[in-house]
Amino acid sequence: MTPPSPTRSSAQARSFDTAAAVYAAARPSYPPSLLDAVEELAGFGLAGSRVADVGAGTGLGTVLLHARGARVTAVEPGDGMAAEFRRALPGVPLVRGDGDRLPLRSGSCDVVTYAQAWHWTDPERSLPEARRVLRPGGALALWWNDSDASVPWAAGQDARLRRFFGAPEPGEETGAFARELPAGADFTTRRLPWSRRVPLDVHLANLASYSDFLMIGPEAARGFLDPERERLAALFPDGVVEEPYVVSLAVAHP
Ligand SMILES: C[S@@+](CC[C@H](N)C(=O)[O-])C[C@H]1O[C@@H](n2cnc3c(N)ncnc32)[C@H](O)[C@@H]1O
Repeated sequence: MTPPSPTRSSAQARSFDTAAAVYAAARPSYPPSLLDAVEELAGFGLAGSRVADVGAGTGLGTVLLHARGARVTAVEPGDGMAAEFRRALPGVPLVRGDGDRLPLRSGSCDVVTYAQAWHWTDPERSLPEARRVLRPGGALALWWNDSDASVPWAAGQDARLRRFFGAPEPGEETGAFARELPAGADFTTRRLPWSRRVPLDVHLANLASYSDFLMIGPEAARGFLDPERERLAALFPDGVVEEPYVVSLAVAHP
């Protein structure tokens, strides 16, 4: 599914901890064009910059920032995700905490990033917190990676997911940013289409790592995933799924 429901429980925010290893193995990374766009919209390069990657999870975004030469500190509230992060990136500092109360000094960051994690925060708290820890002129970068609903099979799967979970239909507005951005900061946005090719099993494991599936448990999840496997096996007879995505990026100097 594309946008999350507006109200999320703390149990759902913690659901990833039960599946951190699957998350790390099956979730997509992000395209190189994403960090090019972050640098362009921030107005400075990431190499040498002090970056706080908040809601870092297993480190899918952190590892890319680190590879660009950023001096990254990861912030992650979840036990399971933090453990997986430390296994994958033992050389990158991680502090436990969340976006609503950042465990970071005021003015200590050039960039604060949230890779698919902003929607788990309370913007009334997380925006002032981002402002506090950023130096003057620093950048807040939020991004989400969503299935590209302009590709017919992906749109069909999105509709099936919505039906399965009783989620509302997506809004009609065309060209609107895929997520709700906090008021009180002036964001510039970009949409970055990309895709990856993965075995069908990885595609299904990726779906199973969505918090909505984690909340209902593996038995109930099979009610969606088993018929979906059959449908996709017919659609992709070589067993390789081309997953189409769009990264929605928003950057502000709050
Ligand atoms: C969808 S995952 C994204 C992980 C990683 N950034 C990535 O790109 O794969 C969301 C992450 O946000 C974390 N999270 C949940 N509530 C949070 C909060 N209030 N502040 C910061 N992170 C939070 C979860 O523990 C989880 O690791």
